[in-house]
Amino acid sequence: MSPIIIYLLLIFHLLTPPHPITADQSFISVLITQNGLDFVKNLFVTKAISTITPTPFNQIDRVVRIPVIGKVHVVVSDITLYRLNVGLSQVIPNVLGVYIAGSDVSCDLSMKWHYYYGSPFFPIPISDSGTAAIKVNGMEMGITLGLDIRDGSMKLSNIESNCHIDDISIDLDGGASWLYQGFLDAFKDEIVSTVEKSITKTLNNEISKLENALQSLPKQISVDNVAALNVTFVNNPFLSDRSLGFEINGLFIENKTDTHSYINSVNVRDGLQPPVHCSDPSKMIGIALDEAVFKSAFALYYNAMFMHWIVDKLPEQSLLNTAGWRFIIPQLYKKYPNDDMNLNLSLSDPPDVQISQQKIDAIVYADFILNVVEGVDTIPVACISLEISGMGSVQITGNNLVGNFKMDDLNMSLKWSKIGTLHMFLIQPVMWTLIETVFLPYINARIGIGLPLPLIDGFMLRNAEIITSYSRITVCSDVTYQESFDGAKIYTS
Ligand SMILES: *[C@@H]1O[C@H](CO)[C@@H](O)[C@H](O)[C@H]1NC(C)=O
Ligand SMILES: *[C@@H]1O[C@H](CO)[C@@H](O)[C@H](O)[C@H]1NC(C)=O
Ligand SMILES: *[C@@H]1O[C@H](CO)[C@@H](O)[C@H](O)[C@H]1NC(C)=O
Ligand SMILES: *[C@@H]1O[C@H](CO)[C@@H](O)[C@H](O)[C@H]1NC(C)=O
Repeated sequence: MSPIIIYLLLIFHLLTPPHPITADQSFISVLITQNGLDFVKNLFVTKAISTITPTPFNQIDRVVRIPVIGKVHVVVSDITLYRLNVGLSQVIPNVLGVYIAGSDVSCDLSMKWHYYYGSPFFPIPISDSGTAAIKVNGMEMGITLGLDIRDGSMKLSNIESNCHIDDISIDLDGGASWLYQGFLDAFKDEIVSTVEKSITKTLNNEISKLENALQSLPKQISVDNVAALNVTFVNNPFLSDRSLGFEINGLFIENKTDTHSYINSVNVRDGLQPPVHCSDPSKMIGIALDEAVFKSAFALYYNAMFMHWIVDKLPEQSLLNTAGWRFIIPQLYKKYPNDDMNLNLSLSDPPDVQISQQKIDAIVYADFILNVVEGVDTIPVACISLEISGMGSVQITGNNLVGNFKMDDLNMSLKWSKIGTLHMFLIQPVMWTLIETVFLPYINARIGIGLPLPLIDGFMLRNAEIITSYSRITVCSDVTYQESFDGAKIYTS
C-alpha cells in the first residue's frame, strides 16, 4: 500500500464519539484534533509530492495559422509533470467531510513539440522539433472527502476534487521565434486544462486507493493467541470544524482467523460534542476506552482458562511441605506429616474493574486450594476463597496501554476443608505474602503486556497523558511517524 494512503488512513481511522441513544455500542472512541489532522496532512503532502511519478499526458495536435507563413501543423506530446511544490496546505474538517486544500502550488512540466508545413512557395516541407519547459504558478487544488461507516468499514466518498490553474509560462527550447506566439495562442488553454484534468485524475486515483485500503483494514487486531481487539467501526464518524472522531466496537474477542464482516445499521450522529476530552487541547489525538473494554478482556481470559496456576516452586520453599504450615494449620501437619504440597490458585470469577475519577479499583476473585502430594496422588485438603482488592494503574508502553495491580486489602473465607476449621487470622499474613510474591507477579506480567491501542502501523504515541474519569480511560497524545518496513501490516501493537 502506498505510504500516502497510510497517512490518509490515519486521518480517517482515528476518532471518537459519545454514546448516542440509538447507536450501536462502541467502547473505544478516537478523536483526531486539528493538530493531529495537520500532522497527518503534512505527512501526506510531503509523501504525495515525493512519490509523484512523471506521467505523460495525451498528445495534442493542432493546425495553427501563423501570419505570413500560413497553416502549420503542430504537435505537442509527452507532457510530463516532474516537480510539484505545495506552498500552503490545509486540512479542514467540517460536518460534511474533510476538506484538504493546497494553494500556491507550483509545478514544472516538460514536453516535446514538433511542427511541419508545406506551401506552394516552399516545395520542400519544412519541419522542426524541440522541447519546452512549462511552469505553472499559483495553482489551487482541493478534495472534499465524505466519510461514512458501512458494514463495519469506513467508506469514503469523493464529494469533490478540483484543480485550478491561473497561469502558465512556456519556454520553448529551440524553434523559430515566429512559432512562439502562435504556439502559445493555440495551446495555452489546452495545456492548462490538460494539466488540471490530469491532476484531478491523480487526486481521484489516490482517493480510490485510499478507499480500497480502508476497505481492507482488519476488523480485529491480535493481542496474543487468545485474544483480539474488535476494531469494527460502528456508527457514523463524528465531524466538527475542529476535529474528526470515530467509534469502534473495542471489545476483546477470541483471536480467531476468520474475520467475517459485520452488518451494522448506520445511525446518524447528532452529537456536536466530541466524545473524547483531553485537558490539553493541543494533543493530536485522544483515544477513550470504556470500562467495558477491560471487563471484556478479563472475561475473555477468564473463560479461556488462562488464569489458573499450580504453584510448585516458591521463594519460601518451606510452604510446599506440610511442615511449613505446622503452626498455621496444625491439623494439616498432624494428618499429613512432612508431605510435599502444591498450591492451586485459580480465578473464581473474572476480575472486576471500576474506573472512576483519578483511580482504578479492581477486585480479583480467586480460589486457593491446598494440595498434599502423596506419591502420585494429589489430595486437595482445603479451599480458601480470596477477594483481593487493590488499585490498578495504567501507563503507555510503545502503543500499548499496560496495567499494573497493587493489592491493598485481602478478604478470605473458607470454602471447604477436609481438615476442619482453619484460623484465617493465622493464614492471612502467609497468604498476603504468597499473593504478593507469586500471584501478583503472574497477573502483572499478563496485564503488563497491555492492550494495543488502535493505531495504524508507523504511528507511535509520543508524550501521552492518561486521564482517568468516570468509567473510562482516555489517552491523549501526540504522534510521530516512522516509515514502516512492512507496508502490509496496518496496525501496530
Ligand atoms: C492470534 O494472534 C497471533 C499474534 O499474537 C497471530 O499470529 C495469529 O495469527 C492469531 N490468530 C490465531 C488464530 O491464533
Ligand atoms: C465486533 O463488533 C461488531 C460491531 O459492534 C459486532 O457486530 C461483531 O459481532 C463483533 N465481533 C465479535 C466477534 O464479537
Ligand atoms: C485447581 O483448582 C480448580 C478449581 O478451583 C480445578 O478446577 C482444577 O482442576 C485444579 N487443578 C489441579 C491441577 O488440581
Ligand atoms: C472485605 O471485608 C470487609 C468487611 O467485611 C468489606 O468491607 C470489604 O469490602 C471486603 N473487601 C472485599 C474485597 O470484598
